[in-house]
Amino acid sequence: MWQCPLCKLPLKTVQENKPNIPYKTWFCEKKHTFDKAKQGYVNLLPVQNKRSKMPGDDAEMVAARTRFFSAKPYSPLATKLSELMRSLVASRLADSVVPRNLSELPPKSIKIYDSGCGEGYYLEAISESLSDQFLFAGHDISKAAVVAAARRNKDKQLVVASTINIPVVDQSQDIILQVFAPSCASEYIRVLKPCAYVITVDPAPEHLFELKQMVYDSPQLHDENKSGLEGFDIVEEHDLRFQVNLDNAEMRLALLMMTPFYWKTDDNKRARIQMELQQVTADFRVTVWQAALEVNLVE
Ligand SMILES: C[S@@+](CC[C@H](N)C(=O)[O-])C[C@H]1O[C@@H](n2cnc3c(N)ncnc32)[C@H](O)[C@@H]1O
Ligand SMILES: [Zn+2]
Repeated sequence: MWQCPLCKLPLKTVQENKPNIPYKTWFCEKKHTFDKAKQGYVNLLPVQNKRSKMPGDDAEMVAARTRFFSAKPYSPLATKLSELMRSLVASRLADSVVPRNLSELPPKSIKIYDSGCGEGYYLEAISESLSDQFLFAGHDISKAAVVAAARRNKDKQLVVASTINIPVVDQSQDIILQVFAPSCASEYIRVLKPCAYVITVDPAPEHLFELKQMVYDSPQLHDENKSGLEGFDIVEEHDLRFQVNLDNAEMRLALLMMTPFYWKTDDNKRARIQMELQQVTADFRVTVWQAALEVNLVE
């Protein structure tokens, strides 16, 4: 499923006749090689494609995110995402020329790809509740994030890469997941199988509003204008809103540190948030997209 970021030929990652035996070095026919790091991930971001030395979220933000997720505060979102994935695949199979049930498929035949996977919480949570017909993989541009994601997801292939150059072969994925991360519609169209889906999760208007109230004098609701995915149609939209209890100072600080609000607060505000912020609203917009059908107008 992976492709060489240098020449775009497929990468060999497992032995041909023994798919359960992975290679420690991935390689293409042109002999470009990529070593698996001891933490289990592979770096497929060529140095020349890096815009900065350490692109993406830094180690401090990633660690804050991991501390926050340890109490599973967003588990209703993970549950919603796995239910959506199961039902999208089941209805696509039911509508196919030869209708089939999900349980009839061989293991690992439905490919789920997390684009901008961060420290891998959603990959871990979603894969735990879906059957072994699903296979999970993903990338993030931040090495610190992928190291953490690989720690949580030892059974999955995770790589350092950019969304504008996804190192995955054409038409190989069934569902791309993108949670609070940047998108690249043209790459998504390239790597998705025909009629496959993208699921995006964006902040809805009230997301973390109580935190914003403690950061800004006049806090604004989140802008509803999320970026579209050019060439895709929306097939489903869901709003998911729930309260998250912040049981201790560590969790409150972790939440603050994983958001850009951290840099907008002084020591006084940080201390107040750590002591007083008991609860926040989580407000998500979940959108399912499918590549628009090309209408051939030539008679
Ligand atoms: C807000 S975090 C969300 C992470 C994860 N999806 C989650 O919800 O926990 C945004 C992520 O996008 C990654 N990112 C930013 N630019 C990227 C790019 N061009 N390609 C891939 N990942 C990128 C960051 O490193 C970061 O991990
Ligand atoms: Zn190559």
